Amino acid sequence: MAYFHVSVMLKEILNYLDPRPGKKYIDCTLGGAGYTIALAKEVGEQGQVIAIDLDELAIKNATRLIAQQKLENIVLVNDNFKNLKAVVSEQVSPEAKFDGIVFDLGLSSAQLDDEARGFSFKGERPLDMSFGPKNERSTADIVNTYSLPELTRIFQEYGEERYAYRIAKEIVEARKKKRIASTHDLVSIIEKVTPFRYHSKIHPATRIFQALRMETNEELKVLEAVLPDAVSLLKPYGRLVVVSFHSGEDRIVKQFFKDNPEIKILTKKPLIPTAEEMVNNSRARSAKLRAAEKIG
Ligand SMILES: C[S@@+](CC[C@H](N)C(=O)[O-])C[C@H]1O[C@@H](n2cnc3c(N)ncnc32)[C@H](O)[C@@H]1O
Repeated sequence: MAYFHVSVMLKEILNYLDPRPGKKYIDCTLGGAGYTIALAKEVGEQGQVIAIDLDELAIKNATRLIAQQKLENIVLVNDNFKNLKAVVSEQVSPEAKFDGIVFDLGLSSAQLDDEARGFSFKGERPLDMSFGPKNERSTADIVNTYSLPELTRIFQEYGEERYAYRIAKEIVEARKKKRIASTHDLVSIIEKVTPFRYHSKIHPATRIFQALRMETNEELKVLEAVLPDAVSLLKPYGRLVVVSFHSGEDRIVKQFFKDNPEIKILTKKPLIPTAEEMVNNSRARSAKLRAAEKIG
């Protein structure tokens, strides 16, 4: 399957990371390899990019691109970035330090389009929104086992969904009759209990799918845990750049930057994409970029 993803805010990322020959970087979210390849080209043979992704599809696609472009300074790692420190120890050395570390959170367009997985509410797919194969529980497990208060909470907190309780209640009722197994099963439930006028702006399943994806992959928990590790892996003046797409993610990054005495904030307010990028790439519309530098 062709892997399609347009990198968000690539120019700004390169601006903050300032790649030059011999520098070393970690791209914690390889995706379509847009950042990784751009960094690898700038750092040259003496430099290095470690690129991590939980998704085997991203690794396979990047392996092909790297071979095509004859780049020999990229190390691809199929793992969760929550294991960042262990990855660096294994792949480089326990003492290794980097000039920059970048996160571009969430999912790629290729994952959304992958028919084998349930990231999209269009069509009928298995209800699974795991980025990788190592998740303890699938999205279907969450939908079919979480209590009414738990479902309501994740729909409210991660989805900011005003009909959170109503949708959660209907899920709990529906699963008494039959396991909710596909994206179609879930979409039908959501459509049934949300008022028709609510369907006109964005599809009523959008926020629920986002919430379930975040819960399935424990996205906020993993982000919170990895940020201190990322700072510890930076050289003095090394830079940490995070692109987020959800207010909860951005809040975590903002607070972490504020509370950490080891770093200097480079973006007082988060950077957002240019109007032109937003027009050309609708996925970029909710992006927020924050950057910080390790104190020398
Ligand atoms: C938005 S895409 C990155 C796109 C990339 N910057 C580019 O230019 O093509 C996010 C990627 O991060 C991966 N990802 C999300 N959470 C992860 C985690 N905890 N560990 C490893 N990879 C993760 C997803 O599988 C996805 O491929």
